[in-house]
Amino acid sequence: MNEEIKVITDRENTYSKKWNEEEDSVLPFSIADMEFLSPNSVVNDIVKRAEHGIYGYTIKSSGYFESIINWNYERNNWEIKEEDICHSPGIVTALNLIIQTYTKKGEGIVIQTPVYYPFINSIKNNDRKVIYNELIRVNEDYKIDYEDLENKLKDEKVKLFFFCSPHNPIGKVWSKEDIVKIGKLCKEHNVIVISDEVHSDILLNGHKHYCMASISKEFSENTITCISPSKTFNLAGLQTSAIIIPNENLRAQYQKTLESLSLNKVTPFGLVGLESAYRNGDKWLAELNKKLEKNVTFMKEYIDENIPHLNLSIPEGTYLAWIDCKSLNLSDEGLENFMVKKAKINVRHGYVFGPGGSGFIRFNFACSIEMIKEGLERIKNAINNN
Ligand SMILES: Cc1ncc(COP(=O)(O)O)c(C=O)c1O
Repeated sequence: MNEEIKVITDRENTYSKKWNEEEDSVLPFSIADMEFLSPNSVVNDIVKRAEHGIYGYTIKSSGYFESIINWNYERNNWEIKEEDICHSPGIVTALNLIIQTYTKKGEGIVIQTPVYYPFINSIKNNDRKVIYNELIRVNEDYKIDYEDLENKLKDEKVKLFFFCSPHNPIGKVWSKEDIVKIGKLCKEHNVIVISDEVHSDILLNGHKHYCMASISKEFSENTITCISPSKTFNLAGLQTSAIIIPNENLRAQYQKTLESLSLNKVTPFGLVGLESAYRNGDKWLAELNKKLEKNVTFMKEYIDENIPHLNLSIPEGTYLAWIDCKSLNLSDEGLENFMVKKAKINVRHGYVFGPGGSGFIRFNFACSIEMIKEGLERIKNAINNN
């Protein structure tokens, strides 16, 4: 089978959110989807299903469960049982459902900023309290402030810990040591871990991912894990995620919320896409990760040679580069205006990721090298003409 990663440069008439956020002259490196076609096998299976012509109510197939179980066992040595697999259209939907299920208004949820901004929005939108455990930047890397984390977890009003693993936007693949430390602290203080592992397949330069729930029975009983083929295989629009809840009591509560909103439904294409991707996608994924390594190496070299005002440390996972732009000496608004109005590129602006994000941009490098080069050239020229 041909596992080549095919770049697509024309998304016209697909109503891509990424390509319609700004005016046409602005090149988008913003939303986390890729300018690559999904694997051939996935496209073929979806086309085959589309050709049937009836798209009625759909139930999960045995192949759907098997593909999730096998993928996670083979890649991460994580044993999932069929009954542990719950549904959600998207992971952000699941985060909101989780907040509503396990917490009351005014109670707290700990997050580690800078972090994927819907973590912050989902907590605020549900009138819960955002408790910040800001990551500490050390020599272009990040560390967890464990003393602060423990102090925050100790608070009786804190009920959940949102763990971003691997971490968006900083691109860190957490070590087993960090995962064990966090898992133990949460257990000790009766805080449920919500482990968002949506980026866990995208691992660069040999980095290894550990699933929080795979570490021990004690951890799996205290962890809700969010996974999906959406990032890995560019299937976000299919709205099909899996929420793994081994703890029977927690699972029953989640299912009740899901059913109360009638969200416990798979779509015909989501079902086929997920199964096909997890069943046949491993070789394609290996090629994807190699392509992403090349892209980010190119970015690093280009920036180091041509744009000394920016500083990029190569991410360990994800296809998102977290670039330090503090040398430009711009305010949040100033940096945003500079990128969109002067450089004519759209990125995710650091301040939206919460405390610690100001002065950075998040640049999505899942596209052609030519597009990356064009984006970086635009930044370089905008700085030179400033
Ligand atoms: C950490 C993280 N969680 C969740 C999502 C998206 O989840 P969904 O589109 O399934 O709601 C993203 C997308 O970028 C993400 O980075």
